[in-house]
Formats: sequence, C-alpha cells, structure tokens
Amino acid sequence: MKLRFAAGALLLLAGTVASAAANDSLRFNPDSFTRGSLTMPDGSNVPYKAYEGIFYVTNVEDSTYQTLNIYVPETLANIPRVPILLRTYVGGYAASTAKTPSPADATGRALSEGYVVCIPGSRGSNSTIERNGATVYTGMAPNGLLDLKAAVRYLRYNDALIPGDSELIFTDGTSAGGAMSSLLGATANARDYESDLKKMGAADATDNVFAAICYCPITDLNHADMEYEWLYGCTNTGVRNLSEAQIAISNELAAECPAYINSLGLTMKDGTPLTADNYKDYLKGFLLESAHRALQEGCVIPDTIGFTFYQDKSGPMGGGPGGGPGRGMRPGGKDFKPAGDGRQAPSFGPGNAPRFNKTSDFVTALDLDRYLSYVASVTPLKTPPAFDQMGVLIDTPSPENNVFGNEKGEAANFTDFSLQHRLHNPSAKLNKEMVRHVEVMNPMNFIGTGKSTVAPNWYIRHGAKDRDTSFLVPVNLATKLQNDGKNVDFALPWNRPHSGDYNLDDLFRWIKATLPR
Ligand code: DHB
Repeated sequence: MKLRFAAGALLLLAGTVASAAANDSLRFNPDSFTRGSLTMPDGSNVPYKAYEGIFYVTNVEDSTYQTLNIYVPETLANIPRVPILLRTYVGGYAASTAKTPSPADATGRALSEGYVVCIPGSRGSNSTIERNGATVYTGMAPNGLLDLKAAVRYLRYNDALIPGDSELIFTDGTSAGGAMSSLLGATANARDYESDLKKMGAADATDNVFAAICYCPITDLNHADMEYEWLYGCTNTGVRNLSEAQIAISNELAAECPAYINSLGLTMKDGTPLTADNYKDYLKGFLLESAHRALQEGCVIPDTIGFTFYQDKSGPMGGGPGGGPGRGMRPGGKDFKPAGDGRQAPSFGPGNAPRFNKTSDFVTALDLDRYLSYVASVTPLKTPPAFDQMGVLIDTPSPENNVFGNEKGEAANFTDFSLQHRLHNPSAKLNKEMVRHVEVMNPMNFIGTGKSTVAPNWYIRHGAKDRDTSFLVPVNLATKLQNDGKNVDFALPWNRPHSGDYNLDDLFRWIKATLPR
C-alpha cells in the first residue's frame, strides 16, 4: 500500500516539508543519518543507516528518554512491504533510553533480514527531571506506555519518509517490556490514552500495530498476585518454606483467583468453557506440549520433575510400558517433526536421565504440583503478595509499586487487597485516579471489547521454568486473544527461564509467515 503512495506522497511532502519545517518538528529528516554496521554471530556484516536521538513528541518532558532511534539496513529485504521491528528495552518497569541494535537479539537479526528497526526510549519508574528546584518523577504509569504509543504514531506519521511499512510494525519486548508490547498490541487507538497523547504532542496519527511479540509479559498486574498464589500455593510448606503469616496471605489471595478465572469467560480451542475447575489440566497441556517437543528435538528431561514418559521398546508405534498416550498427546511416529519452541531449547545436559527415541517416545502425564516445586527450586519464588507487596508483609516496594507511584517518587499500592492490608482497613479502596492507571495498564481490559484496535498477530512466549509471574498470565492473555479471533502463536518454551529474544530462528520464521503475501 505504501509503495503505491510513496512517489506521490514524496512530491507532496517536498512542498510540505519546506514550508512546514519550522513548525513540524515531528517530520522525519531522511538526510540526517550516520552509518554503522553490525557483525552478526555468523561473522557476516550488516551495514545500516542510523537515525538517532529523534524526539517523538513536541512537548518533551524528559529529553533523556523521549527519543527514538531508527536503523535502516543498506540492503532492504527484497519484498513488496518491509516490516518495522519496534523493540523496547523496558525492564522492571524502569525508564529505558533509545538503544542501538545488538547482533545478539531480534534487532540485529531484523536488520540482517533487511527489516527496519526502531528502538524508542521511554520514561519509567526511575526517570526524573528537575523542575523549579525539585526532583520530579516523570514515568508513573501509564507514561512509559504513552511514550511507546507516541513512537508508533511517529512512525506512521512519517510513513512516506521512513523506509519500511508502518502498517507492518512488530513490537517486541521482554518482561515489563513484554507487557509494554502486549499493551501496544491490545490498547491501540483507545480513547483512554487520547488526551494524554495530545498533551504530550504526539504525532497526529493512529498507533495500532500489526503484531505484538511478547516474551514473558509481566502484565495483568492487578490479578497477578492471586494468580501466583493460586498456582504456587502447593509449594508453600515445601520448597517455598513460607512463614505462617505468609501462608495466610497466600491463602487469602489464592481464594480470590477462581472467581477471577471464571469471570474471564474464556474458552478452550474446542469451545469448552475454561474455568477454575479445568484450568490446571488446560495449563498442563501447554507444559506437556513443551516437554514433548523438547524431547522430540533431542533434549534430555529428568524423570524427577513430574513428567511421565512413554518409551517405545519395540519400534515406532509398537507396544510399550504404560499404554497409550495421555491427555492430548499423540505418539510421534516416524515422520513426526514438531515445529516450534522445543528447538534450540537449552538441554538439561547429560546427568543420568533416561534416553529417548526421538521419533517414538512421548510424554503422557504431568504431576503439576511436582513440576511447580521443581520450577520453584530453580529460582526461589517471590513471597506473597508477589507484585503489590509494599506494606503487606514487607515495606519494600516492588517494581510495580514504583511504577504506580507519584511524581514525588513515592511508591503506591495498586490493588484494594494490598491497600487494605497496608492500612489495616478492610474497606479501603484505591482512589479513582489509581483505578484508571491500573485499568489502562492491563491489556486484558481491552481485548475483545471493541475499545481499541487489537493487533491481528501475536507471538507470546513464557519460559517453562520462568517464575516471575504465574503461568496464568500469559495463558489467559493468549487464550483471550485466540477467543477474539486473533492469530496467536503461544508456547511455554522448554527449560527457558525469565528471558526473551531467544530462538530467533523460530521468531523470524513466524514473522515471515505472518507478513502479508
Ligand atoms: C520484571 C521482572 C519482574 O519479576 C517484575 O515483577 C517486573 C518486571 C522485568 O524483568 O522487567
């Protein structure tokens, strides 16, 4: 679409740019670049043009963070419409400067594929400016998200001038950055953000994106505490070794979760309603699939972490111990080649685990509690409440308490539960402003509502041993999007901890398959 308009648009703009240069500071200047190059892991060299330090709003509050960088490979992909990878490096809900591309992550890979890369900075929990002699915190929620939306608007506003197609923006982030990516994908063009974006001087354009790539999104923050305890409560007196006071909080939170799950009105792929009663079996399906793929691709899985295996002792598909496949799992057969996230999974290493026949063995069952204890033994779990923790059993604010804080840098609670516990007042309630901030920071509030332009394509990954948030968070997000008819590629990749931009072969296979033909 862009190519058809490009020539005309450029002619038009030639006039527009000259006359509007003084008052259109958001107009991209194609001539203002430096040259650079990346050396990729395979030794190849990827030269690019770098457009750096571009302000993407006119009312810049925080000049350290409200800029973006754009990288254009010297050799653009030879396809009709070149996508733009918008990578945020937000972590821990902190501020993030506009960064340079890295050969080790999706930015370098995108450039080597001939795609355009945009890396915006954004304000966050720790960004400050000096105003009238006082330190002012600039990045309280949802400001970081607003910045990223403004960056998307900038790209679309300058579509005719920036190589790449602003209708093909893929957002990408990990953890809090994964949450930001999910929010960019779920909340675009919603009225809730409009007046703030106007005040900031964001470009006059829409902010919907084509695809959201979300690695371990730390999101659904106002339900994340109950989702964590409902899942991991089984470890409280075991590997988690909680105190009595902690167990009491854990139990209180966990008790709130079934009603929340049921309130979502989600369905499984076959249309069966997803409820608190069948939820754990549903979750097990994703973990079984993850382990199964990993085995098929040559990983070694110990028999001590909850999985039951079927080992075929008499040739492919022949009889073996333990009978047939368990829930949802089918034996591979000779030609079985699963696609996806088992590939490149880091193996457990040799140890004394059983050996598997790659083509005929499979996973039949999972003792979920045992597996969760294993996850908790790899990285100690968060203590309850895992997210809105400030003032409940400890005073320390979490990253989330910080990002919901105020201009003075004072952290805040963002759930009634924790506020009530901190104030020892069972009828305490968040104020209206906080309720609004929490609301607009949760992608679950937008998907399927018609309030926003939801991205049509989603790639969601949460490592199978990542305990930074409950598995329920990515599972609910992916399921809600699926139920809303979106194209969703979701997996809990085997043996991955809290991390992102891994298995880039898989990611870029998906990107290519997702691009319009
Ligand atoms: C991140 C990790 C967390 O556990 C969390 O609560 C918030 C953010 C992160 O890595 O970005």
